[in-house]
This record gives sequence, structure tokens and C-alpha cells, in this order.
Amino acid sequence: RLDPSSKCYIFRRHVLLALFVCPLACLAMSPCPPGCCCPGPGFLVLCESLGLRSLPRSVPLSTSALSVARNQLCNVDHLLQAFSGLQELSLSHNLLARFPRGLPPSLESLLLQENRITYITSGVLRQLRNLTRLHLEDNRIRAIQPGALLGLRKLQLLTLKGNKLTSLPRSLPPSLTHLDLSENCISSLDLPSLAALVNLQVLQINSNCLRSVPENTFDSLPRLRSVGLTNN
Ligand SMILES: *[C@@H]1O[C@H](CO)[C@@H](O)[C@H](O)[C@H]1NC(C)=O
Repeated sequence: RLDPSSKCYIFRRHVLLALFVCPLACLAMSPCPPGCCCPGPGFLVLCESLGLRSLPRSVPLSTSALSVARNQLCNVDHLLQAFSGLQELSLSHNLLARFPRGLPPSLESLLLQENRITYITSGVLRQLRNLTRLHLEDNRIRAIQPGALLGLRKLQLLTLKGNKLTSLPRSLPPSLTHLDLSENCISSLDLPSLAALVNLQVLQINSNCLRSVPENTFDSLPRLRSVGLTNN
């Protein structure tokens, strides 16, 4: 729902509507951080393409969707922990070198594409039990510690397209329905890891380093309806 290309003017009508239905006192209680755009005052805050090197200070704690995409953020560790109702967060197109620590456990959608993350260690995601969508495409991820994602019991969509993985991540959550591993260099499919993904519907492994796929590879995946294996 957070479109990284969204711009303020798209929301002008919504802002006017918000001004109309929301008394001034209410707007004063949930101010929009300078330079940001708040189409849903107090709950939807867009601070995109502002050259930010740190998070804006005055984001209302009641915010449920925040985008700070396309800035120059290097580290947001523990800075968003107090946003106890934050469900959607976009940190895409920034300069994060590692997976952010201390994110609020209320998150359902986390966009981290186009950063500089190299490893996913176990522990960083442990508290994100409500996460359903995780975007990690176009980072520099070489390895995911086995089981690092296993605690994400509601995770449905995981995209790791355009990273530097050489094998299928082990112990992925069985709740996954969509998995995109395109544009890595995965050279073989670990059958036990794949077999655990009993809810998987769509699997993309295009543009990898696979030379062959054993005949029975997908037999254990009853929901699977699409597999992309082009350009291997
Ligand atoms: C996780 O989702 C459940 C169900 O929607 C909700 O009741 C719970 O409060 C959420 N947890 C957090 C930490 O927000």
C-alpha cells in the first residue's frame, strides 16, 4: 500500500478532505513533520525523497503507515520501537548496511528494498511475529542464518530478488505463499527446505545458477501453481 513513487500531489485531495473533516485542534495534536506529506494526519506519514540522514523528529506516535523511502538513512536501530501501532514501514532506497534492530512488533509490512544489507542474522526478526510481507530485493545479502526467518509465523510474501545468495535459505516459514529468489546465484535446490513450504503458491528462481532441477522437486508442494525458472 505504500507506493514508493507516490508524491504529495496525488494526495492533495485527501489532505483537503482531512482538513475538512478533521477540526484544527485534531491536526495540531498530530502535526506533519516538516517537508513530509500526511494524507492521513496521524496515521499515514510520507517523508520520501527529502535527503534525510536521520528520521524526522515529530512523526506522531499514532502513525500506522510510515514511508521514509528514498532518503540517505544509514541506521534506524531502536528509533521506531515506540510506534506501537505501526503496521506498514518503508525504508526502501536508503543506505542501511544491516537489518534494522528494534522494530515495533506491530509491523505487518516491511519494505527494505534497495539498501546495502549483507547478512540476515537470527534474532533481528524475532519480535516481528505479525509480519506478512517482507521486501528485501536489491540488497547485497550473501547469507541468511538458518532459522533467522522461522519465527515469522504469518509471513506470506518474501522477496529476495537481486541479492547474492548461493543457496536456498534454510528454515523458511511454512506460512510463505510467495517467494521470489530471482537474480541470485543459487546453484542447487535444497529439497528438505523446499518441502517445508507447504503453503507456497508462487516460486520465482529466474536468473540464477541452477543447472538442473530433480524431477520430484516440487512434488511435496500441494498449493504450488507457478514456478519461474527462466534464465538458468
Ligand atoms: C498482531 O496481530 C494481532 C491480530 O491482528 C493483534 O491482535 C495483535 O495486537 C498484533 N500484535 C501487535 C504487537 O501489534
